[in-house]
Amino acid sequence: MAGNRTLAIIKPDAFGSSKAGRIIAHLEAGGFIVVAARVLHMTDAQAGEFYEVHKERPFYRSLVQFMTSGRCMPLVLERADAVSGLRQAIGATDPAEAADGTVRKLYAESKERNAIHASDSDENAERESLFFFSEAELIGAR
Ligand code: CMP
Repeated sequence: MAGNRTLAIIKPDAFGSSKAGRIIAHLEAGGFIVVAARVLHMTDAQAGEFYEVHKERPFYRSLVQFMTSGRCMPLVLERADAVSGLRQAIGATDPAEAADGTVRKLYAESKERNAIHASDSDENAERESLFFFSEAELIGAR
């Protein structure tokens, strides 16, 4: 991954209200290139595994329910300093605390229904990218 790729998920709240195009345009304007993309409706098992790190949190079941409530759009994005750059571009978890001009400030509904996920480290970016995409899809895009 070499620090230049990260994983985003346009979540069911944003994808289901036709905001995916605007969010991708926003990220492209910030210098990100989409190198892999798909649309899927996650199963309970998939969402549960993806968010396993939050298993003990009180919001875990509700988060899994939300993430399985409709289609979402995982994206592998490329740019220098991709992980920190994307987290800056999307803003704080809670849109009420997100800076002006960030994706969550513009498009998120609440702390849970917050429009977009972004990996929090290079290691997780790689692990999360391989959760949704095959090695061949990722290598082929280089
Ligand atoms: P995300 O960046 O995908 O990582 C974990 C997700 O859990 C987060 O975005 C929110 O959607 C959700 N989340 C985090 N904190 C809370 C909370 N306090 N209450 C409800 N949902 C939360």
